[in-house]
Amino acid sequence: MALQSSISSFLAYVLILFFSSLVTGAHGQGGVGDIIRDGQTVVSESGVFVLGFFDPNQNSSSTGETRYLGIWYNFSTDVIVWVANREIPVTDSSGVVELTEDGDLIISQNQTNNNDVVVWSSNSSNPKVVNPVATLLDTGNLIITNGTEDGYLIWQSFDYPTDTLLPSMKLGLNKQTGQEWKLTSWKEPNDPSPGESILQLGNSGLHELYFIRDNKKYCRRGSWNGKWFVGYPITKTNSRFLNMFVDNETHVFYTINMANANSYGRLSWYQNSSLFITGFKQDDASDWIYFSYPLETCDLYNYCGPNGLCNSQNLTFCECFDGFHPKSTVDWRKRNFTLGCERDEVLNCTNDDQGFLKVGYVKIPESTNSTSFEKNMSIAECEDHCFNNCSCIAYAPMYLESFKVSRGCIMWHGDLIDTVMQNKNHGLELYLRLPKSMLPKNSNGDTQTIIIATTVVGVVILLLGILLVVVGVVILLLGILLVFIRRKRKKKRAKKGTWITKSMLDDWKDEVQLFDFLTISSSTNNFSNDNVIGQGGFGIVYKGIMEDGQEIAVKRLERPSEQGLNDFMNEVVLIAKLQHRNLVQLLGCCMEKDERILVYEFMENASLDAFIFGEKRHLLNWPKLVEIIIGIARGLLYLHQDSRLRIIHRDLKPANILLDDVMNPKISDFGTARLFDAEQLEENTRRVIGTYGYMSPEYSNGGIFSIKSDVFSFGVLLLEIISGKKNRINYKYEEDLNLLELAWTLCKEGQSLNLLDESLSNSCLVPQVLRFIQIGLLCVQDKADDRPTMSDVFLMLSNDSSFIKDAKRPGFCYGSSDTSTLGQAYFTNNIVTLTQLEGR
Ligand SMILES: *[C@@H]1O[C@H](CO)[C@@H](O)[C@H](O)[C@H]1NC(C)=O
Ligand SMILES: *[C@@H]1O[C@H](CO)[C@@H](O)[C@H](O)[C@H]1NC(C)=O
Ligand SMILES: *[C@@H]1O[C@H](CO)[C@@H](O)[C@H](O)[C@H]1NC(C)=O
Ligand SMILES: *[C@@H]1O[C@H](CO)[C@@H](O)[C@H](O)[C@H]1NC(C)=O
Ligand SMILES: *[C@@H]1O[C@H](CO)[C@@H](O)[C@H](O)[C@H]1NC(C)=O
Ligand SMILES: *[C@@H]1O[C@H](CO)[C@@H](O)[C@H](O)[C@H]1NC(C)=O
Ligand SMILES: *[C@@H]1O[C@H](CO)[C@@H](O)[C@H](O)[C@H]1NC(C)=O
Ligand SMILES: *[C@@H]1O[C@H](CO)[C@@H](O)[C@H](O)[C@H]1NC(C)=O
Ligand SMILES: *[C@@H]1O[C@H](CO)[C@@H](O)[C@H](O)[C@H]1NC(C)=O
Ligand SMILES: *[C@@H]1O[C@H](CO)[C@@H](O)[C@H](O)[C@H]1NC(C)=O
Ligand SMILES: *[C@@H]1O[C@H](CO)[C@@H](O)[C@H](O)[C@H]1NC(C)=O
Ligand SMILES: *[C@@H]1O[C@H](CO)[C@@H](O)[C@H](O)[C@H]1NC(C)=O
Repeated sequence: MALQSSISSFLAYVLILFFSSLVTGAHGQGGVGDIIRDGQTVVSESGVFVLGFFDPNQNSSSTGETRYLGIWYNFSTDVIVWVANREIPVTDSSGVVELTEDGDLIISQNQTNNNDVVVWSSNSSNPKVVNPVATLLDTGNLIITNGTEDGYLIWQSFDYPTDTLLPSMKLGLNKQTGQEWKLTSWKEPNDPSPGESILQLGNSGLHELYFIRDNKKYCRRGSWNGKWFVGYPITKTNSRFLNMFVDNETHVFYTINMANANSYGRLSWYQNSSLFITGFKQDDASDWIYFSYPLETCDLYNYCGPNGLCNSQNLTFCECFDGFHPKSTVDWRKRNFTLGCERDEVLNCTNDDQGFLKVGYVKIPESTNSTSFEKNMSIAECEDHCFNNCSCIAYAPMYLESFKVSRGCIMWHGDLIDTVMQNKNHGLELYLRLPKSMLPKNSNGDTQTIIIATTVVGVVILLLGILLVVVGVVILLLGILLVFIRRKRKKKRAKKGTWITKSMLDDWKDEVQLFDFLTISSSTNNFSNDNVIGQGGFGIVYKGIMEDGQEIAVKRLERPSEQGLNDFMNEVVLIAKLQHRNLVQLLGCCMEKDERILVYEFMENASLDAFIFGEKRHLLNWPKLVEIIIGIARGLLYLHQDSRLRIIHRDLKPANILLDDVMNPKISDFGTARLFDAEQLEENTRRVIGTYGYMSPEYSNGGIFSIKSDVFSFGVLLLEIISGKKNRINYKYEEDLNLLELAWTLCKEGQSLNLLDESLSNSCLVPQVLRFIQIGLLCVQDKADDRPTMSDVFLMLSNDSSFIKDAKRPGFCYGSSDTSTLGQAYFTNNIVTLTQLEGR
């Protein structure tokens, strides 16, 4: 559609002047005939948002211009929140925006034949409109109204989101008109046309929030339970955003608002990657803080297949529900969980001999095909409904408190898809239909606690039996009494919430030492700077000397956790219980006032850093280094596999390996991540957890942690110890190979030995060095599946004859994947480059 230009250049000049005065006078507003030319911008009333033309390709050498009309933050010009002509750019700087008489906003371009061609139109023309006005609001919404700014709303940019959800924008659908609000990623970092990644609400069931990539469900954030998304607990703890979910007869949508009026927030796709980010900015001047999603393997949609249960505490992640088994054990063993699980015994509908098993605290299964009751129902009523409906195979009671439309009960009828184990504070209870024969005896209600109770009693009996066979009966009674008291105490503890009682203190005191603040403070000379011995992920570490002369390392946690003291202490107790000669022992803690302080044993020889790269370099010979390497592997293996907690370290590096007086290595800083709640963890993800150079590609790309991420870090550490070189990930400067690439190149050329630090050449065993380099390369493979587990690593390191696979090209090598640049950009905040805006 060509539009004859009706404005003479003189008139245009006048109009520009008029428009300029408009911009400075009535902020962010324009009426019919006002035009914005490329190079001019409109600023919203209080200066938060800017509307204008930009070129995401400005620095690239590609031919021609690609100019788009967009909205961005005035103080953060690299964040484009909306693009009008996503698909068709203006190809030179002649682009013009106009509002037509009947309320249509159009972008046109001056062609060589001096005819304007319309590139984009808001398609909002309405013959009944009189004197329409376009306004850029301080929310970032560009609106067209009838007559005045308060007039009837004809069109708004918030109805046509691109890849960013701003506060008060809707994500969902209008059930009456069928209009959908969803986010679509840019195709490429320099191409705003719609890409393959979509964020949208499901249109049935509980209307869950889905991340879709390449037309496939990629992640499901879980259902809204009235307060937060069950699969994304950050929405529960994040006090900066007010999440809202509306589901009434006409609308269903999700929206965010900021808790603090001066702060800014947004949800957007991180370029075209698999990462979706929530950005938060305290004020104009502060940096963006990013939370990313997905974070863990279990966040990936249907990772364990139908009827599988993903459990991030389990090394293999996937389990079947009780009463189910893997559909294909062969696939399952190969960690291909696609087919999922099936029932041990097919349910027979005509058979009443059935009951329900409580599967405790999960992200409940996908609700697409579920049914729910929108009324206040008790668990018993819910169970009755499910029991009486033959096709109902599971149900879950839902929270009611803050539901506008209450859903007392949700029931599933087909396979259970995408169920994820969660902790008690975040998950919901799920009740699974099973034949009575498969349920624990008394199947009424408290089956779980009865199982626990019976096993506890069983263990007590067994122990007593072994110890004192003769006085069995008497002591059995005592034992049962003890269990009773314990349980009573625990109950009390749970009820009291965050209040600390004497009995809780007593319980904790049994397990860890509780230091008082004054003692710690005086032992460290009032946290004097002279006592600082390190600055780690979560706080500063001081050296302290107790009155009795004992040396301690004191870690004062920065920005103490918002999580309850009770949870904090429970974690501390768990970590204190991890005891291994290759782990730094947690001695106790201090938790007075707002302080959260961890007290560790003091390590004489500080960190391995100095012995590989620093001043103490060359003090260790090869056999000693081998002992250290194997010690680290042993410690890590314990964390991954042998301890009850299955801890992923997340930040393994030389600085976190400490050496005691006999140079025995001990891993430090493990488990600290657990002391922070989800929100802070994710926040720290960007800055603290994980150190560039030690992070695996899948983490820096998609934010997914697993034990294999630790294996990657271990591989880097191993190669660093052997070479005495630090692994630097240089993206742009190709002359300077990074360590992994260097190791790989030398290995391919059969010159691995050149990697070895010269100072070790006299003390080393050549075949062992070659083996270790090979193992190091295996650990840093690009794909997590190609990396060995720590138990394989330990075996290969300690047994000279064990088989070692050939390594492929490691991650973070040139040409191996583009993800490296993604990671880089993510960590330096360089999200989108933008044209220098030149006002006239
Ligand atoms: C917007 O940013 C420009 C340049 O950064 C600045 O000169 C101007 O004052 C800002 N406008 C407002 C209203 O804050
Ligand atoms: C693009 O060019 C501008 C101005 O020359 C420069 O400041 C900016 O860093 C460049 N961006 C990239 C990604 O090279
Ligand atoms: C369009 O371009 C032609 C030639 O480049 C120029 O003479 C004319 O003034 C332009 N028209 C407008 C409306 O800018
Ligand atoms: C406006 O309508 C035209 C013709 O129907 C269509 O090609 C174009 O994509 C529409 N523009 C928008 C922004 O929806
Ligand atoms: C716009 O306003 C005029 C006069 O106030 C009114 O007659 C007309 O119906 C309005 N148009 C719409 C689409 O509401
Ligand atoms: C993401 O963008 C890069 C180029 O920046 C491209 O090579 C890659 O294929 C894109 N990935 C997806 C999933 O679209
Ligand atoms: C549903 O919610 C929307 C948004 O809050 C509101 O505009 C609409 O009137 C509501 N509809 C009903 C039937 O309550
Ligand atoms: C981990 O999952 C497997 C099934 O894949 C199961 O056999 C094993 O018991 C689980 N381990 C733990 C600690 O739950
Ligand atoms: C996983 O198993 C399914 C079904 O057996 C098969 O179709 C698929 O190709 C397997 N995937 C991989 C990666 O082996
Ligand atoms: C289901 O159970 C009933 C009664 O116990 C029995 O008669 C029927 O054969 C069973 N059906 C199947 C398919 O097992
Ligand atoms: C829901 O039902 C449809 C059609 O039967 C099926 O394709 C889909 O896999 C089901 N989804 C779930 C989550 O069960
Ligand atoms: C639901 O019912 C329970 C007990 O029957 C009552 O305490 C609660 O207030 C009810 N909640 C709502 C939202 O009606």
